[in-house]
Amino acid sequence: MGYDIVFKDVRLVDGSGKPARAADLAVEGDRIARIDAPGLIPTGDARHVIDGQGAVLAPGFIDTHTHDDRAVLIDAEMMAKISQGVTTVVTGNCGISLAPLTLSKPPPAPLNLLGDQTSFVFESFADYAEAIAHTQPAVNVAALIGHGTLRVRTMDDITRPATPTEIDKMRRLLRQSLAEGAIGFSTGLFYPINEAADADEVVALAELLADFNGIYATHMRDEGRGVMDSIEETILTAKRANTAAVISHHKCAGPENWGRSVETLAKIAAAAKTQPLGLDAYPYAASSTVLNPKYVRDDIRIMVSWSDAVPEAAGRELSEIARDWGCTAKEAAERLQPAGAIYFQMDEADVRRILAFPLTMIGSDGLPHDRHPHPRLWGTFTRVLGYYCREEGLFPLEEAVRKMTGLPAERFGLSERGYLREGYAADLVLFDPLSVRDCATFESPREISEGILCVVVNGALAWRPGDEHVQRHGRLLRHAV
Ligand code: ZN
Ligand code: CU
Repeated sequence: MGYDIVFKDVRLVDGSGKPARAADLAVEGDRIARIDAPGLIPTGDARHVIDGQGAVLAPGFIDTHTHDDRAVLIDAEMMAKISQGVTTVVTGNCGISLAPLTLSKPPPAPLNLLGDQTSFVFESFADYAEAIAHTQPAVNVAALIGHGTLRVRTMDDITRPATPTEIDKMRRLLRQSLAEGAIGFSTGLFYPINEAADADEVVALAELLADFNGIYATHMRDEGRGVMDSIEETILTAKRANTAAVISHHKCAGPENWGRSVETLAKIAAAAKTQPLGLDAYPYAASSTVLNPKYVRDDIRIMVSWSDAVPEAAGRELSEIARDWGCTAKEAAERLQPAGAIYFQMDEADVRRILAFPLTMIGSDGLPHDRHPHPRLWGTFTRVLGYYCREEGLFPLEEAVRKMTGLPAERFGLSERGYLREGYAADLVLFDPLSVRDCATFESPREISEGILCVVVNGALAWRPGDEHVQRHGRLLRHAV
């Protein structure tokens, strides 16, 4: 019997950052079986032979920052991600995870970004893991447990610090979840459900990670004026907890902070010399989260991404809505509640500096349930490859791919993934480096990218352009402990 799939006439960009090279690659079962010089792998009795015609074959992309906890269950084909070449998503970021939590009343923001109360049905992480196994989404899932989720589960009043008893309960839940297959822990210290937690509370939880080889990811307390203090807090927290850390969607938010990525990256680089520290970023100068009147300011453009009170407001500018209603933007934000928004609050030069920084991984932070989502949901990876890499020359293609594959696989401890190596998992993406590009825009955010030619997940063909359906071969990725 021959191989299951043979890719021939492809250029391998292997995830390490090393120069592309011509080679053939064969897949058997769910693994990369052989990599050899062009023409050396027999194709005679292979089940599928894919002629790449000189296109690039890379490890499947790892979306390091997602809120796909529920999307992988209810939208299991995950077209938004598969169509960009993403084969693994890291869920549970920003302190919000779907499990372990059941709810009998509406979830407080930003937990409502994941769904309404009927969506929170997983008493334990094991229950969630079982749902993933049962559904089998198109992408692999590596899950973080959110601090906000644990607080909502264990505390009657989330606006205060947790008591020792509550911390104990959260520790038990986190330890159990890690034992059941979660790969780490996240905070969203910026948000109302999480901000009352001081560094001691975070350390009491994050220190459990060491035994599980886990990772700590944080949406920091402050990405604006206080960004340097927040980076310091993250560094100290990770050091005290003896854990690797990831600064989520790094940015310098608000016009008064534009340009400060020079300082922030210098601080991160210095700390990373003595402790495991990384960061993720998306390739846009606009962020997106819940709409909170407190985040509204007149000097930045704000677009509504969803509103339960006024659904048709999605996709409209907040300032225009306010004008129509004859009120201030803050008042309009109040009337739209609960709601989400896109904030045009970053500096393009910062975005580029952060993306190009060697420790930066690519993470979409896409919000899959928004009525009018930020285009990062459908376009992050192809925008990095097309716009920032090819058109703007921000970095070589090999470096762009490393930021999406090898680097995140190492950082998140996803063993035997992220690189094209014999014996490694066959998560693969074939793309045309000359035409790959994002098509999603702020006006029309759900457009499929161009130039992704073939996606393989765990050794099976998942999607090719024109395929109406995605074949689902993803699984929950656990840590080898
Ligand atoms: Zn966040
Ligand atoms: Cu996020």
